Parts: sequence; structure tokens; C-alpha cells
Amino acid sequence: MTQTSTVLIVSDRPDLAVLLARAVENVVACRCIDPREAFPAVPPLVAVVDVNQDSALARAWIARLHAARVASLQLTDQAPHGRTAAATRTLRADAPRTVVLATLFGLIDTWQAVRRKAAAPSGEGAPLQAGAAKAERFARAATGTVARLFEAAAEGRPITAAEADAGTENILAAVSECGIRTWLEVIERHDQQLYQHSLSVAGYAAAFGAGLRLARADQTRLARAALLHDLGKAKIPLEILNKPGRLTDHEMAVMRTHPAIGADLLGAQGGFDTATLDVIRHHHEMLDGSGYPAGLAGSAIPDLVRLVTICDIHSALTERRAYRDPLPHRDAHDLMLGMIPKLDAHLLRAFERVVLNGIFEDATA
Ligand SMILES: [Fe+2]
Ligand SMILES: [Fe+2]
Repeated sequence: MTQTSTVLIVSDRPDLAVLLARAVENVVACRCIDPREAFPAVPPLVAVVDVNQDSALARAWIARLHAARVASLQLTDQAPHGRTAAATRTLRADAPRTVVLATLFGLIDTWQAVRRKAAAPSGEGAPLQAGAAKAERFARAATGTVARLFEAAAEGRPITAAEADAGTENILAAVSECGIRTWLEVIERHDQQLYQHSLSVAGYAAAFGAGLRLARADQTRLARAALLHDLGKAKIPLEILNKPGRLTDHEMAVMRTHPAIGADLLGAQGGFDTATLDVIRHHHEMLDGSGYPAGLAGSAIPDLVRLVTICDIHSALTERRAYRDPLPHRDAHDLMLGMIPKLDAHLLRAFERVVLNGIFEDATA
């Protein structure tokens, strides 16, 4: 990162600022300061001003940033004081973090392009493939979160719901801003297969939840559960997890412990709701009772679990493995239609309608 690729968060809500910073810092350098601190010696590229306890102090910060030619995003309960500059944007103080992140990264994109344009003798900027670049930033942030979650699980350190939420919000924002196809293209380049799989399943879940017009809270719950569904694999020996060939019966038995390991681990920590834990424990159950670990059947398998199971299988089939090429999306879906009644026929068709049709149209797959 260059020195100017930094975000400064000026906030009188330190708890919220830390959560926002955590989602930002894997993409660009980020630091938080109290509004009573001095203006930094090295100006940031973009600042977030979240100062609502003292409106004069908030106005002073906006003025300082404007004078220093620093683009700013103000989180405020007050009506905006006119448009002071194109590089000043405002959102409500209670705007969802997803919206704040999307606006912030949009501002960074715009401001970097402005600076490049100013620096280029020809005056030409390079804002090509802006959607992919934006998705890449969200992917880097989400990958950082996923890596920390899996490392914490492997080492027996606690995993917080707030950390999982930060990763989930990056994925929700990426899929809603850039689309599922761009998201899949971007995460394909990340080489840690387990992380890529988690990001892919969560991306499908985000697109599925939005396509079904689920309530916002349910979309978040669905994407978060999808992100965490294979967390138990953090405890599976790497020689089994990464084995390039077929697993022996014993290795398969070990591998099949991952849903219970993940659910037990998060359940013991607390902070995760039953619906999320159900997804983690039961995402390999089949409607005809042939799945594992509990052999649940029919109505015993909640809808949220069924949704993630569909995203999980479609994602796995279309991912590259050491021992096989990825299946094209349409072939993967046809194969899954052939798995009915193990899978929910109604939800499979909904998945095709709201998630896959866009991919079919865009891709040669
Ligand atoms: Fe799994
Ligand atoms: Fe999986």
C-alpha cells in the first residue's frame, strides 16, 4: 500500500470505529483517532468522520479535511451543511456497516482515480474494470477475516460474532455492488482452497438471500452461516484436508467430523444463534435421511440449512480440485437436479432462477 492509500476514522464511538476499521484494514491501511486528537502529520487519502456528540467539532474536522484536500465520508444525524466538495459524502449515523463500507470504498476508488488523473501528463486515468477492482478489495478484506477465523479455530482461540459479521458484510456488499459472477471471478484467484470455498459459498448465499428478497437480517444470517459452515475443517489434519486423491474410509470418517466440530466449537463459545449453529452442524444432511452427521430427514432440516446445502454443493462442484476440473455451472446444476429428492426441489429451482440465470447468461458455461 502506498502512504496515501490510508483511511482515517475520526470517531466519538470507539467501539463502532474499531469494527469498521477491522473491515477496512485488510484492504487499505486504516487508523482510528478520537476527534479531540490532532490532525495527522501525514494526511490520509480518505477520512470517515463519525462525530455526533459535538457538532462544532464535527464541522471543524470536515473543514480541516477539506482544506487538506482529503475526501471524507461523514456519518451524521444532522442535515448536511450544503455540498462543500464533490469529495465529501454523508450517510446517516446509523447506516448499516455494509452501506458505509460500500460508500467508503467507492470514495477511495473515485479519489484515487482523481489523483492518478491529476498526476498523469496525458490526463488519462485508469478506471477500467472498476467493478472487479472493487470486488477485489472486498475479497481481500473478507479473505483476511476468513483466515483469522480459521486460524483462531485451529489454535483454540475465541471467535467473535463481530469478526464473522465484518467478513459477512464485505461479502454482502461485494455481491450487491458487483454481482455474484464478478465475486466468483475475483475469489477464484485466491489460492487457499478452503478460504476460497467459504467465500464462494457465502457469495452464493448472499445472492440467494437477496434474490429471494429475504429480510435484511435473514440475508446476513444466511451469508454468515455460509461463511462459517466449514469452520470445523480447521481441525481436520492437513494431509486429509488437502489430499489430492480419494479419501480412504478412515480418512472420510475423519473428514465427516467437521460439521460437529465447527458447531461444538462455536456453540461452546456462545454468541452464535441456534439457526447458525444448525447450518454448521447439518449442512451435509440430505432430505431423504442419507446425509450426516445425524441422518436428519424432511422437515427436520430447517430452510436455512437447505439453502446453504444447495450453495455448498453447487460451489464445490464448480471449484477446481487437484483430482478434477471444475464443472460448468449448468452441468453442476443438472447434476444437482438429479439429486432430488435428496435436495429441496423448490429451492433448487429458485436457486437457478435468482442466482444461476445471471451466470448462465453472462458466461459460456
Ligand atoms: Fe462441509
Ligand atoms: Fe463446504
